[in-house]
Order: sequence, then structure tokens, then C-alpha cells
Amino acid sequence: MSAAPLPESDLGRARDEVATCVGADQLGPGLHLLTLEAPEAARAALPGEFAQLQMVPGPLLRRPFSFSSVDPGRGTVSFYLRVYGEGTRRLARLALGSTVRLLGPLGRGFTLPESRGSSLLVAGGVGAAPFPHLASRLLAKGERVLWLNGAASSDELFPLGLMPSGLARSAQVTDDGSSGRQGMVTDALPELLDGMDRVYACGPNPMLQAVAEMVGSLRPEAPVEVSIEAPMGCGFGTCLGCSIPLLSRGTAVPGLCCRQGPVLVAGQVDWEGLRRQPSHLE
Ligand SMILES: Cc1cc2nc3c(=O)[nH]c(=O)nc-3n(C[C@H](O)[C@H](O)[C@H](O)COP(=O)(O)OP(=O)(O)OC[C@H]3O[C@@H](n4cnc5c(N)ncnc54)[C@H](O)[C@@H]3O)c2cc1C
Ligand code: FES
Repeated sequence: MSAAPLPESDLGRARDEVATCVGADQLGPGLHLLTLEAPEAARAALPGEFAQLQMVPGPLLRRPFSFSSVDPGRGTVSFYLRVYGEGTRRLARLALGSTVRLLGPLGRGFTLPESRGSSLLVAGGVGAAPFPHLASRLLAKGERVLWLNGAASSDELFPLGLMPSGLARSAQVTDDGSSGRQGMVTDALPELLDGMDRVYACGPNPMLQAVAEMVGSLRPEAPVEVSIEAPMGCGFGTCLGCSIPLLSRGTAVPGLCCRQGPVLVAGQVDWEGLRRQPSHLE
């Protein structure tokens, strides 16, 4: 059987808009919630999709961030940021009323189920970012939503209060045991998998691989979708900077994180190839 090309993002929905900062909150050490007035993105962005943000003046290349929450009524979108280098440092210092350029929505997001069931959302660190938006959409469809949130320590956990109300269950895990159970998200995963119809995960790529393998062995009937990270230049398929090894019907195919991803079915990712790829992200 020949390898079919994997579906690509719809660039026709992306808009380039000037977004005004209407909220800038520090949530933890180097962790910030940035809220921007960006009516077009607020109307269009689906869970798991991302925006490329550019500060002017600022670095030449835009930086990719998942939509964390959207409020189409107010015309606002929020991003949960971890300060990493120059771009995120500047975003974290953005003053109320100042502007950035927002290109989006970009990428392929999470698949929303067609029938009601139970979804487990698994986050590692700043990988919590896309889940408020995803949880809201799932809850609105009548889905039962469980939330497993892991971080290095309690002050780095995404606040439960920023998740939509109505979660069936939430569990926290920290490396140092300062909040919730001590360990990694995969330590808490087995006891939450019972009855799950699907699993969504976002975090460092090795965590995603571990989650995918564990669900594959303990609850193989539950599809797993993962939001992959790769260094991005353009965000729309031109620079080829975000190439990642993918699988289509088990055959290796080259892919672009920004077009076929960032959200992929776990079985579409060539995890060993991804591990071998040079990376400055982990
Ligand atoms: C689809 C996607 C969604 C993301 N969502 C979030 C989010 O919601 N919150 C968050 O804190 N971070 C997120 N990231 C990571 C974030 O984009 C990087 O931390 C950020 O680009 C670093 O920029 P910098 O200028 O601070 O660092 P620098 O090191 O100065 O960046 C240098 C270059 O490398 C690229 N780069 C560096 N680190 C990363 C990285 N981890 N991922 C992708 N490109 C990188 C930048 O785009 C830039 O071109 C996401 C990454 C991707 C691919
Ligand atoms: S970021 Fe340029 S091709 Fe994907």
C-alpha cells in the first residue's frame, strides 16, 4: 500500500492582524498569560491551532504559540507563555495597550469527537497552553473531561482556576512533589485511563512519546492526539525549518510541523526519527 499524504492546514483561514495587549499577568516564574484583542483570531481559532506573534520592533522571525483560550464575544485571545529567549522575554514584558502582529490561526488542531464520551487531557509544563480552549469546546459538546496536569513544581503548574468549570476530575503531578502526586504525568496516567474514549496530550516531545506508548499498551482502543513542537520560522510551510519525520500507513514520509501538525495522531509520528533529530528544544 502506498503512503497517502497526510492532510495539511487550511491557510485560507489565517489572517494577519494588529493585536492590542489587554491583559498581561505573571502566573509563575517565567510564566505569563498574555491576552490580546484580536477579533479575527478570536472568531476563527480552533483548539490546538497556533498563532505566529511578532513584536515590532523585535526579532525578525515571528514566534509560534498555541491559542490558550478565545473569547469571540470580547474579541480576545490568550496565550500562556514560558520565557525562553529574546522573543518570549519581550512578549512577557508587553505593556497594556501596546501592539503585536498576530498571524493565525495556523496549523492543524485537535479533532473534536462526533459523539459524546470521555476525554483525558494530559499536559506537561507549558504544554497546558492549548487545553483551556480544548476543554471549553469539549464541555460544550457534552463531553466528560478529565485533566492531568504536570510540571516541575507547584509554582509552575498551570492554575486550575484558568480551566473552564465542569471538569469531571483533575489531577496534578509535580517532579518535586510540592503539589499533587510526586512524579511524572505517566506515573498518574494508568489510573485515569479506565473508561477513556480518547486522550489529548501536549508537552515536551519525549513526554508525548511516553504517553502515546502507555495509552497504546493499556488502552489501545483510545486514540491519542499529540501537539508536537519543532522550531518554526514562518509557520505556513515556506521555510521548511520545522520538518519532522512522520508516518503515513506505517511508511516514513517527510512532514512539516506547521502544516501537517502541530497536532497529530500519535501513530502518524515517527517517534524514533523525532528523537534522533537534532533539537535545541528539550
Ligand atoms: C506549534 C507551537 C506552539 C507553541 N506554543 C507555545 C505556547 O503556547 N507557549 C509557550 O511558551 N511556548 C510555545 N511554543 C514554543 C515557543 O514558540 C518558543 O518557546 C519560542 O518560539 C521561543 O522563542 P524565543 O525568541 O523566546 O527563543 P529563541 O531561542 O530566541 O528563538 C529562536 C528561534 O527558534 C525558534 N524556537 C525556539 N524555541 C522553540 C520552541 N520551543 N518551539 C518552536 N520554535 C522554537 C523560534 O521560533 C525562533 O525562530 C510553541 C511552539 C510551537 C512549535
Ligand atoms: S515553520 Fe516554516 S515551513 Fe514550517
